[in-house]
Amino acid sequence: MNVLNRYHLPPEKGDYNLKNYQKIYSHFDWSEAEKHFSWKKTGLVNMAYECIDRHVDEGYGEKTALYYLNGNEEYKLTFREVKEKTDHLATVLKKHGVKKGDIVFIFLPKHPDCYLAMIAAIKIGAIAGPLFEAFMEEAVKDRISDCEGKFLITDHILGKRVPKHKLPSLEKIFITGGPEHCSEGEISLQAELENTVCEENIIEWVNLEAGLNIHYTSGSTGKPKGIVHAHRAMIQQYQTGKWVLDLKEDDIYWCTAHPGWVTGTVYGIFSPWLNRATIVVNGGRFQAHSWYRTIEKAKVTVWYSAPTAFRMLMAEGEDVQKQYDLSSLRHILSVGEPLNPEVIYWGKETLGLRIHDTWWMTETGAQLIVNLPSETIKPGSMGRPLPGIEVAVLDDNGAPLPPGEVGHLAIKTPWPSIMKEVWKNEQKYKSYFPFPGWYVSGDLAVIDEDGYIFFQGRSDDMINSSGERIGPFEVESKLIEHPAIAEAAVIGKPDPLRGEIVKAFIVLRKGYQAENQLLEEIIKFVKQNLSAHAAPREIEIVEELPKTKISGKILRRELKARELQKISQR
Ligand code: PRX
Repeated sequence: MNVLNRYHLPPEKGDYNLKNYQKIYSHFDWSEAEKHFSWKKTGLVNMAYECIDRHVDEGYGEKTALYYLNGNEEYKLTFREVKEKTDHLATVLKKHGVKKGDIVFIFLPKHPDCYLAMIAAIKIGAIAGPLFEAFMEEAVKDRISDCEGKFLITDHILGKRVPKHKLPSLEKIFITGGPEHCSEGEISLQAELENTVCEENIIEWVNLEAGLNIHYTSGSTGKPKGIVHAHRAMIQQYQTGKWVLDLKEDDIYWCTAHPGWVTGTVYGIFSPWLNRATIVVNGGRFQAHSWYRTIEKAKVTVWYSAPTAFRMLMAEGEDVQKQYDLSSLRHILSVGEPLNPEVIYWGKETLGLRIHDTWWMTETGAQLIVNLPSETIKPGSMGRPLPGIEVAVLDDNGAPLPPGEVGHLAIKTPWPSIMKEVWKNEQKYKSYFPFPGWYVSGDLAVIDEDGYIFFQGRSDDMINSSGERIGPFEVESKLIEHPAIAEAAVIGKPDPLRGEIVKAFIVLRKGYQAENQLLEEIIKFVKQNLSAHAAPREIEIVEELPKTKISGKILRRELKARELQKISQR
């Protein structure tokens, strides 16, 4: 652990929601956060109510809930408008048979419709299943078919990537636009909304353990697994919004993630809206000018993004940054992959602000290890455990290790936002809890004497490229569908910009030549059928793949070790 040459960054002066970490950590109990919620009176709850309707009931209906920007297009929706629109949409979904516990998949771009669809589905007790907008046929199919999804909300563009003929469980496909955009059998939401009178009191009150959202996430083996969260997650999502995002009444908050990733749902929708913040939704892809313009135009005060995005902005240089007035910013946070100390220093030097790293996972449902605005940052560290959370680094037998030793990053169970289940996969769910009382994350870490936690890598083959979690098996399965490929193995290769890139090692079938054109075609094949973010950026042709002697399983680790050695020799 090389932390000696990195200078620590003390907190900036400010009136933060959490002022004294040590003090709060020593006595905090989650029941304190629970007091905030209405279910303390009735026993029943609904995340959509707590995010939207409650604020209207409490007199904040005219406050801006959502500020959308995409190129020249721009508009705002108040909490009242979001309430009315989601009540109406929920009425239509209910009319079409969506009921409590049903999964409603939502495959839409980063656009208000996506956010409204999520809230509407949750209002009637359904489980929202947002899908990342860059998914192609196979990725969409794997997820919907795994839980035999019956309902899907999409638009006429992304809808083309839904392989209906391979999804017999799908009963209804709702298209956000008018009837002219619908193919046979699809339902136009626009037309349905025009013809349906909005039901009053549409909220389905559920208990805290009821299903809320499902996110498919990749591991090192098998296809993506459906991680299901419960409404109780709101306790921690509210509290982290208050303490970690430090949200206050006047904040304009921008989380750059698409709701198809857990960050885009939890910290793009639930957490800020539970705290009654105005959220910014920026359509379109990453582009330095448009991102800076969004901050300037919307006067963003709190900004949550990922290391790859910060590195890309850093690479664009100060000339670009200086063209924009970014003085509205007061708090910046990061998640998803290791945040390099250089990036934190860049933030401090060019924006005058520290970047606060946070650690959590799809399975954990909310932030667990954090850098708080009121505390010192040790660049290179993900921070310290949130009050209410106990973290340890365990050895292979589940015994806690002393500071300075690398081991398995584990969290004491339970906590309010921990996943409810892995969809129809009890075995997988259990695999996260190999030692009684501990959730084992799959990350390797080390804790220092002050309780700061440093990420050291993964204990499995999962790939993290640009903060996006990629399962090697999913990519390998797609690769071997290509006629030229006999065998494939995929690893994460360290990359200065993206953290890791997907690198594939392939064995060609007889009759195929190692030509650039073929490699390009293979990359395109994965991009078009699975997803652009999962497609290899590098392919190496090999004679054979390293395998275990007994079971013949591919040894990705050996390929990774070779790759790391090559890099270190350069
Ligand atoms: O390896 C860790 C990495 O991302 C994994 C979780 O990925 P996902 O479920 O997609 O959730 C991402 C955002 C909530 C972790 O097991 N990771 C997440 N945050 C950090 C991180 N690695 C290093 N530093 C972080 N701050």
